[in-house]
Amino acid sequence: MKKLAMLAVALALGAVGLAASGEQVYAQCAGCHQASGQGVPGAFPPLAKELPLIAAKGDAGRRYLIQVVLFGLQGPIVAQGKTYDSAMPPYGHLSDADVAAALNHALTAWGNDKLLPKGFKPLTAEEVKALRSSKLTPQQVFENWKKLGLK
Ligand code: HEC
Repeated sequence: MKKLAMLAVALALGAVGLAASGEQVYAQCAGCHQASGQGVPGAFPPLAKELPLIAAKGDAGRRYLIQVVLFGLQGPIVAQGKTYDSAMPPYGHLSDADVAAALNHALTAWGNDKLLPKGFKPLTAEEVKALRSSKLTPQQVFENWKKLGLK
């Protein structure tokens, strides 16, 4: 009995530890996208409500999200009905696991989890690793945004 209880506590702590790490990495994004995921109108796009729309685009959406973080983004995107014609710097210095964790935090925080497509699986470090060698420019990442057909 006692052993089981201790195991439960250890598992709970482990789960908390995992959740905290995505949030911790996301702290580096929050200066622009805000801790609330709401962004700053006219300057930094909201990730709240928008990321599930991107996730709904399947593999192309998953790849785009990872590419934005690895390579940055430049071009006039539309998010939640507003145009953002700015630039995001690349965050390719983050580890594969940290890129996945920051994005998974943003994909599931602020009620985004309830908007994700059915059966959505969290991004993995392996997916991030596989995309690193493509070395896109921020403009090429924007081309991939256009192909998603969001607007
Ligand atoms: C210095 C400010 C800044 C920081 C820090 C920043 N971003 Fe961005 N991000 C932007 C801007 C600006 C855009 C839109 C670029 C454009 O207009 O082309 C953007 C776009 C995005 C997009 C695409 C949104 C869409 O609707 O297509 C994602 C995803 C994203 N950021 C995630 C992140 C994550 C995750 C981090 C942290 C690892 C992060 N950003 C850090 C400024 C920032």
